[in-house]
This record gives sequence, C-alpha cells and structure tokens, in this order.
Amino acid sequence: MHAQGGLPIPDITHINQPYWYGEGGDMDPAEFGLMRARELEAEIDRLGEDNVAAFIGEPIQGAGGVVIPPKTYWPEIQRICRERNILLIADEVICGFGRTGNWFGSQTFNFKPDLMPIAKGLSSGYLPIGAVVVSEKVAKGFIEHGGEFYHGFTYSAHPAACAAALANLEIIENERLPERVANDTGLYLAEKWKMLGEHPLVGEARICGLVGALELSPDKAHRASFEAERGTVGTICRDHCFESGLVMRHVGDSMIISPPLVITRSEVDELIEKAHRALDMTAADVTAQGIK
Ligand SMILES: Cc1ncc(COP(=O)(O)O)c(C=O)c1O
Repeated sequence: MHAQGGLPIPDITHINQPYWYGEGGDMDPAEFGLMRARELEAEIDRLGEDNVAAFIGEPIQGAGGVVIPPKTYWPEIQRICRERNILLIADEVICGFGRTGNWFGSQTFNFKPDLMPIAKGLSSGYLPIGAVVVSEKVAKGFIEHGGEFYHGFTYSAHPAACAAALANLEIIENERLPERVANDTGLYLAEKWKMLGEHPLVGEARICGLVGALELSPDKAHRASFEAERGTVGTICRDHCFESGLVMRHVGDSMIISPPLVITRSEVDELIEKAHRALDMTAADVTAQGIK
C-alpha cells in the first residue's frame, strides 16, 4: 500500500512504534514504552513546536499487527501533547465500542484524546458509517470561527446508516458488551490465549479485551524472526486457519484475531482449539519444508 501511495505525504512525520516484542530488545517493557513516547518530544523539538498541529495514533495498532503498547506509553504521550498544546487524536476505528473492554481504547490506556475518528464498531459493520468525535475545546474553536465545521460528503449523515448505528449502539449498551468483554469473555479468552503462547512456534501471545496477536518465531527464547521472507510462515498458518473455518489473519508472521463482541465461552474454546491445530500443522510444514 505504501509503495503505491506516493509516500511520504508532505507535512506528516512518524515516530517509531511502541512494539516491545519486535524492537524492545533487553529493555523492560515499561521503560521501552517511555522511551518510544519520548521520541515524540524529540520530534516536536526538531520540527519546532509551532509547526506541529496534532499527534495521531491508535490506542492499540490493529491492522499493523495488534501492537499493544506498554501501559507507560499513552500517559507519557498525553503529557507531551498537553505541555506543548498539541492536539491528541486517538484513532478509535478498531479500538472503539468495546473491543478493549471499555467503550474506547483511550479509556483502557488511560488518556483523554481531543479528537476520535470512529467507524467499524459504531454500526458493527452492518452499514457503512464513520465519524469524528471532538472535544469541547475543539468544538469551541469551530464555534469561534464561523459556527460550524463546513464540510460535506455525498453520504454525510445518511439516515439509513445512522439508524443502523443507533440500533447497534442500543444493543451494545443494553447487552453491556464492553463489560462482558472486560469481566467475562475477554478474561476467558486471555487465559486460553496465553496458553497458546506455550506452543513451540509462538514467541509471544498478547491480548487486550477481544483483540490479540501471536508472534510466530523459530526461536522463542530470543524472540527471533524467520530468515525466510517475512510472511512466509504467517501465510501457511493463515491458510490452515481458513481451512478449518477460523478467520485468523496474518500480518507478516504475526497472527491476529478480533472476534465478535458477542462471542461465547464455548466459541472461545472452539477458536482456541482451531488455532492450536493450525499452529501444529504450521510447525509440521515448517519442519518438512526446512523453513528457517
Ligand atoms: C485503525 C483504522 N483507522 C482507520 C481506518 C480507515 O477507516 P475508514 O475506512 O473509515 O476511513 C481503518 C481501516 O481499516 C483502521 O483500521
């Protein structure tokens, strides 16, 4: 995607991700989280504070491989943004609406964004709808400059999508799905998911609420990557999952899940059993094909 997109886009710069498994080396995860957050401070200094409008990130990076930051990361990012009067944007498109066991991922990671793009869980995908939630401070800015945010899309505020979103939110609220994730199914899945971490092919099993990843590794003690082209082993594992009806994607050699918020304990058992079987079959293929 990046290669086709004519990147880099001017006026956007990046800092490194808080990806302890892949990049944290011997550091303590909490220290690593602080170090990566402080890269923001250094980058703002390099650019000049007055040239930085906002910082944007996902509470948990989803399609990027379910990168769950150390607990220290977001509060430090928030401190830096607040001190320098820089807007903090939490992309809640994946983390929002119960996925992490709270209504929003920013609650799980203990920070308060100024803006939140939202989409998927807003309608649970039944109809397409997206939005941006703004804080009082940002809203006031618009009010002071003309009264509203002048924009428009062909399908802005489409009544059918809005009706579906409202019905969906009512169900999430009435069935207390974020609480169910936090206190029941998420805990149950986490316990079983961690057991998958014992598998010889798995370097790390991480999970938060109902979003998780398994890092496939040829040498789990050293969190090593395969020498084979990135994604070779992940694709093998993905295919074994799909054969058994388990939708587990791969991002490189990380396997990622994001099951429905209404998943039951017995469906969690089925998910784990299928994942375990796919790992066994992948390990057998890795040995048979001599993949290093
Ligand atoms: C975290 C995140 N943000 C934004 C998007 C794009 O959202 P939209 O298609 O609503 O613009 C995605 C799509 O997968 C996503 O995962």
